[in-house]
Amino acid sequence: MDLQIKGKKAIMAGGSAGMGRATAERLAEAGVDLVITARREERLVQAAKEISEQYGANVTPVVADSSKEEGRQALFAACPDPDILAITIKPPAPNGDFLKLTPEDWRASIETALIGPIEIMRNYIPVMKEKGWGRIVNIATFSAKNPMIWRLMSGPARSALINYTAGVSREVAKHGVNINNILPGMFQTEGASELLKDYADAFGLEPDPDTVRTHFMENNKIPAGFLADAADMAPMAALLCSPLSRFIVGQNIVIDGGQHYALF
Ligand SMILES: NC(=O)c1ccc[n+]([C@@H]2O[C@H](COP(=O)([O-])OP(=O)(O)OC[C@H]3O[C@@H](n4cnc5c(N)ncnc54)[C@H](OP(=O)(O)O)[C@@H]3O)[C@@H](O)[C@H]2O)c1
Repeated sequence: MDLQIKGKKAIMAGGSAGMGRATAERLAEAGVDLVITARREERLVQAAKEISEQYGANVTPVVADSSKEEGRQALFAACPDPDILAITIKPPAPNGDFLKLTPEDWRASIETALIGPIEIMRNYIPVMKEKGWGRIVNIATFSAKNPMIWRLMSGPARSALINYTAGVSREVAKHGVNINNILPGMFQTEGASELLKDYADAFGLEPDPDTVRTHFMENNKIPAGFLADAADMAPMAALLCSPLSRFIVGQNIVIDGGQHYALF
């Protein structure tokens, strides 16, 4: 399928690993010029090089923490006029006992998972409106609509994010700017692997991979029967970044192997 985005400019904020990188690859494959960001430079630069070599695309790495104003400004300076903006972060760590969460924990979660994406969107929506076309995709989490007691540092801030985008998307759609969210379930990514010890601590387990995996699979019944790869969501992200999604506005697309039962 021709996504009709060849020659467009895209930002993948959080593009050096996991679902962000998989999305960047699909966009590069479709002929888009890319700026990818992350906090850790070495992996970011390597990802840009690999994507560029594999797909023959222009890929510019920009070290920028989306949760910090200086990071958002660095991104804006590097790419002031994208046609496409996709945003993600690393999955926040499992929280353990909810009674131990402090105001500082909540502030960190909100800075990273809510204010960061909102502020990046706020920087670029006027630019896209001016052009009369734009696509924004937030790669958030299914716990935004399916609360989970161990995902309190991820779900509540994303519930607010999808509430925000539900309103804003309907305001900007008439300018050709569409905002949608992807809500992933359980994926085997670099970010998920980095949480092994946090997961073990949250559930009082030994931090060995087999114990954690067994506990995880027993407590997450996934009808599809497997943990997804990042590549399992990237085609949907690329579609939402294209003109083919012109009638898809303010939606939350759950990609979770059927884990959560819901009609909508
Ligand atoms: N994996 C899962 O099972 C799972 C489940 C539910 C929801 N999700 C959600 O899916 C999204 C992607 O997760 P993933 O597993 O693909 O993560 P991942 O493998 O850690 O990849 C995240 C990417 O974003 C970058 N990043 C993280 N924080 C950033 C920040 N503040 N500013 C800029 N870049 C940042 C990371 O690089 P640096 O770390 O170097 O910055 C990396 O490039 C997240 O929103 C996560 O909550 C994941």
